[in-house]
Amino acid sequence: MERDNFIYKPTQKRILDDGSFTWKAPSNIALVKYWGKKEPQLPENASISFTLDACSTITTIDFSKSKPNENVNFDIYFEDEKKDDFKPKIEKFFERIKQYVPFISDYNFVIKTRNTFPHSSGIASSASGMSALALCIMSMEKALNPAISDELFNKKASFLARLGSGSAARSVEGPLVVWGKHDKIDNSSDLFGVKFSGTVHENFKNYHDTILLVDKGEKQVSSTVGHNLMNNHPFAQQRFVQANENMIKISEALKLGDLKSFISIVESEALTLHSMMMTSHPYFILMKPNTLEIINKIWAFREKTNSNICFTLDAGANVHILFPEKEKEKVNDFIISELIQFCQNNHYICDRVGFGARQIQ
Ligand code: DP6
Repeated sequence: MERDNFIYKPTQKRILDDGSFTWKAPSNIALVKYWGKKEPQLPENASISFTLDACSTITTIDFSKSKPNENVNFDIYFEDEKKDDFKPKIEKFFERIKQYVPFISDYNFVIKTRNTFPHSSGIASSASGMSALALCIMSMEKALNPAISDELFNKKASFLARLGSGSAARSVEGPLVVWGKHDKIDNSSDLFGVKFSGTVHENFKNYHDTILLVDKGEKQVSSTVGHNLMNNHPFAQQRFVQANENMIKISEALKLGDLKSFISIVESEALTLHSMMMTSHPYFILMKPNTLEIINKIWAFREKTNSNICFTLDAGANVHILFPEKEKEKVNDFIISELIQFCQNNHYICDRVGFGARQIQ
């Protein structure tokens, strides 16, 4: 599917004076990471993520018809508080998506959004936030043009969300989503995320992700700055090749239920992401001492108990602990007795794999 397929071309046209739509969209955790992009918000390599269940954003848009505006008119509230400092990011998003959903210029919007996880948790809400907003806009499109198919609805939601934040392209569906064109992965595209079409072994059903909040502060490096570090990075090209190879390896591990391979790919991806930041100019260390304490404890526990627990990291200090459903009691006991002490105020979030966004009536 090409970019032009996403330009609004109603085959039916309804009148829509005002209304309201609400969507709940999940966060996601990448197993093979997206790090490095080119204009317009296209990934340098394919990535794959687990869609999460508990960590999500709930967004409502209230809209009413106005005379056509040059810029999209809106106010934004976060947890019932007007947030003008959120405006520039959303303005940029509207500017980018306007050519695909031109009707947004004919309305005034009030956007109300909240996360199911604490704002100051160091968890990025851009993926779930942009996905929820894109889905609300798609509900408007569907109200104006009811003929749009469910398949196009989801693809276009992911396409729009991507223009807000790359990883948001992976926050529409679940439980595993691929974003980025890959020769060996059917239907994969740089333009939008697709449900992983390969076979997934029982071992990966209901996988758990417990997020240890090591540092709840604002991100030290914004994702825009972070991705830009990959331009002229001495190891960038090799990294993009490696990520695409890891996509094949992880597809195989998911099919065979090969937990050991899964662990080695996922942990290596997390450490490679951080290595890229350590070897760029300027360079950053985004892990904290407690991140390393946790990683070492996980390795020791795995060695001692033969558990299939592993970790992954985002572009920050928090640690995502991934483990199979059948180990949940054993791993939860370990997390509580040995790892929580390394979290800021002992805070952590228990999440698991989820199935994608849903509309709230
Ligand atoms: C480290 O999607 O936040 O989480 O496209 O600039 O909004 P933008 O970046 P963003 O990057 C996320 C990068 C990552 C890895 C991943 O989720 O694949």
